[in-house]
Amino acid sequence: MNELTPKIVDKFGRPVRDLRISVIDKCNFRCPYCMPAEIFGADYNFLTNDQLLSDDEILRLASLFAQLGVTKFRLTGGEPLIRPELPALVARLVQVPGVEDVALTTNGYYLAKHAPALKAAGLHRLTVSLDSLDNEVFQVLNGRRATVERVLEGLAAAEAAGFNKIKINCVVKKGINDHTLVDLARHFKGSGHIVRYIEYMDVGNLNGWKLDDVVTADEILEKIDAEMPIQPVPPNYPGEVANRYRYLDGTGEIGIIASVGDAGLFVKMVGPKALVEANTAAFDQFVSSLSLRTPQQ
Ligand SMILES: C[S@@+](CC[C@H](N)C(=O)[O-])C[C@H]1O[C@@H](n2cnc3c(N)ncnc32)[C@H](O)[C@@H]1O
Ligand code: SF4
Repeated sequence: MNELTPKIVDKFGRPVRDLRISVIDKCNFRCPYCMPAEIFGADYNFLTNDQLLSDDEILRLASLFAQLGVTKFRLTGGEPLIRPELPALVARLVQVPGVEDVALTTNGYYLAKHAPALKAAGLHRLTVSLDSLDNEVFQVLNGRRATVERVLEGLAAAEAAGFNKIKINCVVKKGINDHTLVDLARHFKGSGHIVRYIEYMDVGNLNGWKLDDVVTADEILEKIDAEMPIQPVPPNYPGEVANRYRYLDGTGEIGIIASVGDAGLFVKMVGPKALVEANTAAFDQFVSSLSLRTPQQ
């Protein structure tokens, strides 16, 4: 392949620039909205180490995608920081010709340990998931695998290592953590970090997803705006995953990933049967016809 190699475009002719790479399927948390403990138990068959793509295979794929026009890679999982030697993989990915941005999404549990090595490896950006600052609420949402304090220690280590504008992902589930979402915004307001609220979504019919459990983007925005007024701002680039809002007092911004808004519209349009089949090809096709946004960041 060379400069004449065709670039990947979506059905609207837009270039595909982002690639999400899941480096491991295992995780040390059991967030009920993602890997409920009753399904992902001790006898669950995760991939064995030799079934995972090796570093060389990931590098090979990354450089092929880069030649096809991809400029951003996001490493995710499972929990990427439980893959051995992840910083070494990052150090190689940032060297791939054409790559401008390598980011990582983590639950933060091992961040304090790895932040300096990730920075030294050249990782550009970091997203840390944290669903609540209330420890009891947070533990319900991670299957009692970690405390808020542990994740905040990871964030502090990442700041000390030189990461800034860290994105803080918060999945909002009705009746579970929606009463704490304003506290989360208040805590990070003025820090330079960006809290991004994600509408709780179906991820393959394993998490018992119901539309009733979703707090919509509008409801999230109303709660925050009532205490700390915000206004929308244009996306940083076309197709940005989160919708952006800035605090009117100039102390930063938040993001909303409204992944389910589209699904709700789909259900209204084609009837309740679609709800049961919300992960079918028809659904995927519908969502991709609206946008190419992917819900997990
Ligand atoms: C699958 S996780 C992988 C990376 C890492 N383990 C973490 O939690 O940050 C990536 C993101 O997806 C979000 N996520 C997982 N399940 C979700 C769901 N059902 N609805 C919305 N977001 C979800 C997580 O909160 C996290 O921010
Ligand atoms: S959301 Fe992330 S931390 Fe939670 S179970 Fe899924 S992979 Fe693990």
